[in-house]
Amino acid sequence: CGIVGYVGAPDGAAAVDIVLDGLSTLEYRGYDSAGLAVPSPSLAVHKAKGELEALEDTVPRGDLAGALTGIGHTRWSTHGEPSDVNAHPHTDEAGRVAVVHNGIIENYQRLRDDLTEAGVAFRSETDTEVVPHLIGRYLDRGAAPEDAFRRSIDQLEGSYAIAAVFDGSETVYAARQDSPLVVGVGETGTYLASDVPAFVRHTDRVCYLENGDFARLTGNKAVITDDDGNPVDRPTETVAWDPEDAEKSGYDHYMLKEIHEQPSALRQCLRGRIDDLEGTVTLEDLDGLAHDGPVQFVACGTSYHAALVGAERLRRTGIPAQVFLASEYATDRVPVGADTLVVGVTQSGETADTLRALREAARAGATTLAVTNTVGSSAARECDHALYIRAGPEIGVAATKTFASQQLALDLLAAALGDGSDRAALKALRDIPGQVQTILETSDARAVAEAFVDADGYFFIGRGYHYPVALEGALKMKEITYRHAEGFAAGELKHGPLALVTENTPVFAVVTGDDEAARKTIGNVKEVEARDAPVVAITDGESDVTRYADHVLEIPAIDELSASVLANVQLQLVAYWVANQLGRSIDKPRNLAKSVTVE
Ligand code: G6P
Repeated sequence: CGIVGYVGAPDGAAAVDIVLDGLSTLEYRGYDSAGLAVPSPSLAVHKAKGELEALEDTVPRGDLAGALTGIGHTRWSTHGEPSDVNAHPHTDEAGRVAVVHNGIIENYQRLRDDLTEAGVAFRSETDTEVVPHLIGRYLDRGAAPEDAFRRSIDQLEGSYAIAAVFDGSETVYAARQDSPLVVGVGETGTYLASDVPAFVRHTDRVCYLENGDFARLTGNKAVITDDDGNPVDRPTETVAWDPEDAEKSGYDHYMLKEIHEQPSALRQCLRGRIDDLEGTVTLEDLDGLAHDGPVQFVACGTSYHAALVGAERLRRTGIPAQVFLASEYATDRVPVGADTLVVGVTQSGETADTLRALREAARAGATTLAVTNTVGSSAARECDHALYIRAGPEIGVAATKTFASQQLALDLLAAALGDGSDRAALKALRDIPGQVQTILETSDARAVAEAFVDADGYFFIGRGYHYPVALEGALKMKEITYRHAEGFAAGELKHGPLALVTENTPVFAVVTGDDEAARKTIGNVKEVEARDAPVVAITDGESDVTRYADHVLEIPAIDELSASVLANVQLQLVAYWVANQLGRSIDKPRNLAKSVTVE
């Protein structure tokens, strides 16, 4: 989602123009609905489902031209389908306050129950709507707007970037916890946004809010305070981005930006779903799904690789699980019964092959579950259940952060369907975001890519959980470099592909731990080394694979569950830097589409 706020100085621009313009630059963050509110002369809210154009068509710009204050929002649904009603801003019943929000309010159900019991009638299915109603209740009791805002925010658990405007008041109030929010200070007004591109056209002087910060924006300044209302000093920085760079947060490509977003995407995936004390996993989207029969996965491309990881996880909890390429499922005559759970793993929720397979499964009487990034997508709507991976929008055609989030979501699914009480395993999941961060900060992938940019081809090998990583490493390489790359189960190399191995074909071997699987893969590494192929080991250093490797890409010492996510991050970076050296069209590779809606 994207948030925008603005308070103009007396000679400032019309808020409606600034807000709509800001939203258009944030559209890449999510775009299933949008809305805005201006508080003066009296609070007016406009919202519309669909792309921003739909909102632009409904907003009476002429009527609002005199208003200097406003907030706006583009939505990427996490609770409730995309619709006019679920679009932000949300208001209290009396229409005194309008609120926009990014993030997830974890205790919203309890707050909603309390408010409903107190007689509040909710209009939307969103978690956000609890906020204006809470504020409204404090206003009812005579609190001033800022006080009502602060006291309401204090009751929220979870992640949020929130902005609010009050009827008749030329002030924007904001609060931040675990969701980005940045203030811009300009000559003719003060700006607020979830990301700099929303206002970088108007000012390059920015000030990043930190967790727990509150902000009060007026036409000539922003005052930032802590939870107790004491002013805090946040440095004002000057950003050197042009608007186009800014959308990529300064990265050259969306793909690189999205690779770097993985720690926060993974945190978002876990948020509110693990109870450490109880050692339990709660997947709110799976209410009522109790399943102990066989599981079948259907998926395509990168999602298929995530499904391979997921199926292995389920098997280790004792649940029989198989994986099918969605495009083969219908013709495979796979036996499906009423006791089968068929899981479609699909980032977009719109891949025709996957939808077709899910429909076949439903027709055969199976229960269906969509594991997807897209609330309101066809897969989410058509399946009996949906589990959201919460990775946020992914623009690069080559899937990166969504692959990591899919794996984590499937870990959670395995824990929820299995006994779920392995605390050590759940703790290991919590550690993954930080470990990914470490890899991003220390990776030598760029140097490895530079060493092998002229290779004849690239091979990737792995065993067990690392086999899907090998497949995905090769797929990423193919997609964005247009070079030949193949992933193999390490043990299969000797059954044919070894004939392709030369001194010009680097072999990337994923080896973690020091168990039998690791030792066998090291045996395969020796086979390629004996044929003079350069070896790149992706390893936690537990085994002696580094002795046989020309290059090492390290991952932190880890639980087995985390290895596939972490090793993949190194391979994403290698593919990215090879493609970058070759000057490829990284975000939009030739012949490929982000979502393929034909069979
Ligand atoms: C396309 C994309 C791939 C993606 C696949 C499945 O082929 O180019 O990156 O993995 O579709 O997409 P889905 O949205 O179903 O995960």
